[in-house]
Amino acid sequence: MPNESDPIVIMDSGVGGLPYLETARKLLDKESFVYLADRAGFPYGTKSGDEVRRIVLDRVARLVERFSPKAVVIACNTASQAALSAVRAAHPALAFIGTVPAIKPAAARTKTGVIGVIATAQTVRDPYLDSLVARFAPGAIVIREPAQELVAFVERRLFDAAIEERRAAVAGHIRRLVDAGADQIVIACTHFLYLRDDIAAIAGAGVDIVDSRGGIAHRLSVVLAERALLRTAAAPDRRGLFLLSGDEPAEAPYHRFAGEFDLRGPELLTLS
Ligand code: DGL
Repeated sequence: MPNESDPIVIMDSGVGGLPYLETARKLLDKESFVYLADRAGFPYGTKSGDEVRRIVLDRVARLVERFSPKAVVIACNTASQAALSAVRAAHPALAFIGTVPAIKPAAARTKTGVIGVIATAQTVRDPYLDSLVARFAPGAIVIREPAQELVAFVERRLFDAAIEERRAAVAGHIRRLVDAGADQIVIACTHFLYLRDDIAAIAGAGVDIVDSRGGIAHRLSVVLAERALLRTAAAPDRRGLFLLSGDEPAEAPYHRFAGEFDLRGPELLTLS
């Protein structure tokens, strides 16, 4: 059974979940974290739901074996939609927190009744999104904007791209949503959080940019409290570990991301 001194694992196909880790670490400042960027499975958004499920089940099993975490946060909308119920079924004693598009807060706030959702190719076509819309925004018009190419842009080019390049990368997507009347733009791919300011600048005043970082950190703390798994004393090593799947040495951007988020590593999670 999990106990309070076990770490919290956060995973994504790449660096998209790191802003979630940052928010969770601020709220839960006694905890230790392990972060997996699943480089070997990257990207998830071009794959089928079945394929993403198979990959995520595999990575979670390896992480559970190596770290016996007390909770796992799937900081990826594509993976959560495709695999959350499967990983819960495979590890019934473990707490899982998923990241799903923040349709509910957007529906509560919209005045125009039009909500834009910017996400990966797989997330926008996943029936799970239809069920979220039917449940939380039945009266709204929800426009789905796939922006898969932005995932690789963030993963590989974020630190090299000038502001003009970042703005140009998001402009077409955001203008389409705003021109259709959206006053809420839901960031439904965790990678796009890095482009939040650019998205807000293109969207202009009067458009809310909605994401789930705060909600996920809060949910994580509630779930751990309910299970009496919150640390009472600070972890000896609170710096956290950045893991990268695959055998190849880490490419330069991953070293940079580890430094920016003050994590040890990158260390490799070999899959062979
Ligand atoms: N960061 C991911 C998400 O929230 C997936 C990006 C990808 O690998 O395509 O959906």
